Amino acid sequence: MVPLKRRKVVSSSGAGSTGSTGRDDVTSATRFPQVVLFLLERKMGASRRAFLSQLGGKNGFQVEELFSERVTHVICENNSGEEVRRWLQSQAGSPAHLLDVSWFTESMRAGRPVEILDRHKLQEQQIKEVEVVAFSTPSYACQRRTTLDNHNAVLTDALSLLAENAELSDEDGRGVAFRRAAAVLKSLPEPVTGLTQLRGLPCLGGHTLRVIKDVLENGASSEVEATKQSERFKALKVLTGIFGVGVKTADQWIREGILSLHQLQDSERTLNRAQQAGLQHYEDLNQPVTRAEADAVAAVVEEAVASVLPGARMTLIGGFRRGKLTGHDVDFLITHPEEGREVGLMPKVVSWLDSQGFLLYQKTTRNSYLEAKDGPARPSSNMDRFERCFSVFKLPEEARRRAKEARGAAEETEPCSGPAAVSQVKGEGLKPWRAVRVDLVVSPISQFAFALLGWTGSKLFERELRRWAGHEKAMSLSSHALFDNKQSRYLRASSEEEIFAHLGLEYILPSERNA
Ligand code: UTP
Ligand code: MN
Repeated sequence: MVPLKRRKVVSSSGAGSTGSTGRDDVTSATRFPQVVLFLLERKMGASRRAFLSQLGGKNGFQVEELFSERVTHVICENNSGEEVRRWLQSQAGSPAHLLDVSWFTESMRAGRPVEILDRHKLQEQQIKEVEVVAFSTPSYACQRRTTLDNHNAVLTDALSLLAENAELSDEDGRGVAFRRAAAVLKSLPEPVTGLTQLRGLPCLGGHTLRVIKDVLENGASSEVEATKQSERFKALKVLTGIFGVGVKTADQWIREGILSLHQLQDSERTLNRAQQAGLQHYEDLNQPVTRAEADAVAAVVEEAVASVLPGARMTLIGGFRRGKLTGHDVDFLITHPEEGREVGLMPKVVSWLDSQGFLLYQKTTRNSYLEAKDGPARPSSNMDRFERCFSVFKLPEEARRRAKEARGAAEETEPCSGPAAVSQVKGEGLKPWRAVRVDLVVSPISQFAFALLGWTGSKLFERELRRWAGHEKAMSLSSHALFDNKQSRYLRASSEEEIFAHLGLEYILPSERNA
């Protein structure tokens, strides 16, 4: 006779005859008819399975010795959801719940089937892991929107430190590679949890992946930690932290045994004017500039510009234009809507600032870019050809306070006592000002859009724009112009949007250029 309803009855992988749970003793005491348990022997082991089955029976649970359609809850230990699902498929079964043994033990403790929570669900947990999104992102940073909310700061901090170390060691190629890798991670919408998610992402080489693996597995990268501790790295940071001191000078001093500011001062080495100012205002200049301080500087520069050339326009550029809350300096771009009126503007602005006592140091360079003479700008020649002023500003406490108030009490995150408020000048009490690095750039209106795009950054974003232009579009982009090599002509633009359009790129807002 064939039963009315034929049931598929199979044994748990090899556990068929081992259970000490006779079917009768477990079904007899059923208190929870809706719940039919099956304990998977796989990885749990036969003796533990037998013990737990008996425990279940004693507490009034139905525990099936064999897997069948009746089973409502499959209890597993140390199995991945994928493994269990594969096993179940081979049994052609699909019970309602795939649960971790924790649900079973909690139910035993409670003396009843406890509510199934996410953490109990083997299936859910494992699906998340198996179906974890593999990220994908375009190759060039200028094709991506990189905002300031970085979900992978631990990883990007590690890679940025290695980039910095490479740059300080005059290994720019390696530096760029680490910066590109960090930029890729900055653009991801979620934290990285495993290396498999990174498969297929651009710019992640073997070295970078080793660092990421180290951080994911151990919480920190041994290479990064060793670098931070290295005497050479520490000395390079201190010395290049002096305004006016570059990598080559710092390296030379280190080879001469100068590793600290004290040693530099004791060495009585002759310093140029910039370096003297850098050393004198070392503490202030290594203190991040806040947005309120940037506003205070802006108000002063605005007044200078308006006084010497009514109608001239000033724009905040650099990191603050990208929405950064702090910066190492404040950058401004100045122009006049009438071409040519900007000529001679910089010296006037500088002498106005100087006469008002705002400048602790300044060095001005002339605009050396001439389209007719220089031809299409090459990447190496596009950086410093504007009329430009590098300065150290003396920002009065009073101006800071006013700007802060104008900004409202919104900036409560700012330390209430900045360096100006706390740093003691020997014998003079509280210093009523702080030193701030300020860069001024003047551009003719015809180049304004290129200058604005080129000086807004980030540095990597700019580098990627130029790489995109050259490699993908056969164009040369600089802060002055865009040249189309195929058509042998300059492409004009009066806005950043037009430049992105010439380059065949979607427009990226300044706040999304934080690559
Ligand atoms: P900054 O060095 O001021 O960087 O250069 P930042 O993004 O404002 O960040 P902070 O100041 O460290 O907080 C600003 C932009 O100006 C361009 C860079 O490419 C960068 O995008 N720049 C800087 C030049 O084009 N030429 C230079 O000589 C210096
Ligand atoms: Mn800046």
